[in-house]
Amino acid sequence: MRIDIVTLFPEMFGPVLEESIVGKARKKGYLQICCHQLRDFSSDPRRRVDDTVFGGGKGMLLAAEPFARCIDELSEHLGKRPHIITMSPRGKVLTQEHARELSRKEGLVILCGHYEGIDERLLQEYGAEEVSIGDYVLTGGELPAMILADAVSRMLPGVLSEEACFTEESHFSGLLEYPQYTRPEVWRGRAVPQVLLSGHHENIRKWRRRESLRVTGKNRPDLLSAFPLNAEDRKLLQE
Ligand code: ADE
Repeated sequence: MRIDIVTLFPEMFGPVLEESIVGKARKKGYLQICCHQLRDFSSDPRRRVDDTVFGGGKGMLLAAEPFARCIDELSEHLGKRPHIITMSPRGKVLTQEHARELSRKEGLVILCGHYEGIDERLLQEYGAEEVSIGDYVLTGGELPAMILADAVSRMLPGVLSEEACFTEESHFSGLLEYPQYTRPEVWRGRAVPQVLLSGHHENIRKWRRRESLRVTGKNRPDLLSAFPLNAEDRKLLQE
């Protein structure tokens, strides 16, 4: 997959997308990430890309044209119009399922808003999808773009050792993940639950399922009420 990121602050992306799993995925060729400086696409001699908002109001807005030039250049280079996303607190809140869908695309272009955002006509012209990372406002779309790129990258085939690495964790099934433990068996007087040391696979599976249901109910009752419980789940919840 190829991810292009258009931003006023390309330097912010360096270390975050070069280390760890995403860094390895790039080195192994599963993923290509290219950052583009929005100012390089300005026609202004002083490389300005923003302007005041029509109708009044505080702050500055990023103009449509520099983004459009960048997207057009990318489309020509790629030989087709890529899927375009803008990071915005106004967008649909990102979920694991959405990240999975995006990971199946050949490429993504992520536009990072800043200041008051981006001229609406740019979004209309390119059918851009607005994505939010949560119901709070950050200073710009750069951190959200990194989060989206990370969430998508780890689900690309080959990036994690096994698909189970993400199919068994929080949010994949609609439940949150059960607690996990490593050595030592007793740490500061706290012992690992006995069942996990028993080697009894069926009991371990049931324990994990019950714990997933319990953690989801405690931390995210909204997720638990939306989850289609089966007969075993109902029994486990009552035990
Ligand atoms: N830009 C600022 N806040 C944001 C958010 N919550 N999600 C995506 N982009 C943003």
